Amino acid sequence: MEKLVISGGKALRGTVRISGGKNSSLAIITAACLAPGVSVLENVPMCRDVVTLAAILEALGARIELQGGRMTIDARQMTTHVAPYELCRQMRASFYTAGILLGRLHRAQVPLPGGCVIGSRPVDFHLRGFTALGALVEIEHGYMKATVDRLAGTTFFVPRSSVGTTINLMLAASRASGATVLENAAREPEVVDTAVFLNLLGAHIKGAGTNAITIEGADELHGASYAIIPDRLEAGTYLLAAAATGGDVLVAQMIPEHISALLAKLEESGATVDRGTDGVRVRAGGIHRGVQLDTAPYPGFATDLHPPFAAVLAMADGASRIRETVFESRFGYVDELRRMGADIRAEGDSALISGVPYLTGAPVEAVDIRGGAAVLIGALAARGVTEIATLANLDRGYEQVEQKLSALGADIRRVDVRGGEILTAPVA
Ligand code: EPZ
Repeated sequence: MEKLVISGGKALRGTVRISGGKNSSLAIITAACLAPGVSVLENVPMCRDVVTLAAILEALGARIELQGGRMTIDARQMTTHVAPYELCRQMRASFYTAGILLGRLHRAQVPLPGGCVIGSRPVDFHLRGFTALGALVEIEHGYMKATVDRLAGTTFFVPRSSVGTTINLMLAASRASGATVLENAAREPEVVDTAVFLNLLGAHIKGAGTNAITIEGADELHGASYAIIPDRLEAGTYLLAAAATGGDVLVAQMIPEHISALLAKLEESGATVDRGTDGVRVRAGGIHRGVQLDTAPYPGFATDLHPPFAAVLAMADGASRIRETVFESRFGYVDELRRMGADIRAEGDSALISGVPYLTGAPVEAVDIRGGAAVLIGALAARGVTEIATLANLDRGYEQVEQKLSALGADIRRVDVRGGEILTAPVA
């Protein structure tokens, strides 16, 4: 029952450090439980999805500690193959437990996952992949139930570029007998990060980052230490917030080439973008040109940056169109931006935006993680006060969001709705 209260219109200035990748962390924390050992991960973000996943893995028998970005995962014992229903329903990445349980225990009973409401999000590709690896798979009472004597390597064509399917099958195939080839594999940095970590555990994976990944099954895996890559989606969100407010922000501790498609579009919209080796500075006069873009699998324009970019384009000088090609209905944020005065509508697979000179603060909701980022950016740039509710969605993906934005000069507070108590005051 918390809200963010933002008094908008302040240009963001300064430096912000990017946390470890949320989506990388979710895959790698789960991967650590494939090996009967102790792993230590650095740069793990303290966001809600990470905490939920840790609770799921603890229910399976792992022991997990998270302190100051360092997570210790003791996966020597996995005591059950049944994943907890209510926790798994809260997030898509919970389904990665299916890959590790099948690989390690040869059976898995995992609830069909939940996650952001951005269209139908089936797990049929995952199931077809497990079947191709030799598992007997059925859906019963809301669970996927799968058993196998031992997974056997195979060649599997991922029906369309899917991050989750690629990662889940890498997890399972790392413990299969023989070699597995994943064709049409996703190429996202999170896939590469997971493969690098799995290899540290003793797996034999080649080709991650290309469309063909080969996984030679390993009999023995062990614990490892690893630092998660920076969160390219958090980095993109802060760059867009800087652009929307006409600010000057150095986004540090990130990998610029992970968001090349965004940087190109930011430049096209009128912002000045300086790329460094591990940071990007954005300077913006506050007036942008409208742009046209299609979301696409990596290295294309990331679907997760569609809603936050739409918020920037809502204040552009001219018309824009964002065509969403990855998810079927990622437009929940549209009505929320309209409450703030945006001239935006969803039509078919596209968001059609006519720029307005300014947005105005309003009570809005964070409809999902990136929809939350969209209203946050709108609020930072808007005239007047915005209250963002349903904050749990934003907290699923962003670590210390109000602290980081306060340090950049934003007027942002987290309040407890019941008592009106201020939980976080801006940094002086
Ligand atoms: C991951 O989701 C991310 N989540 C998403 O980030 C991200 O938007 C997405 O990849 C695309 O980059 C995590 O990493 C936890 P997909 P994932 O499998 O793996 C269809 C965020 O805000 N599909 O690549 O679930 C699917 O419906 C989140 O951080 C099937 O049809 O995405 C989609 O249209 C939101 N059947 C397309 O493939 C399947 O079995 C790509 O989805 C699997 C996927």
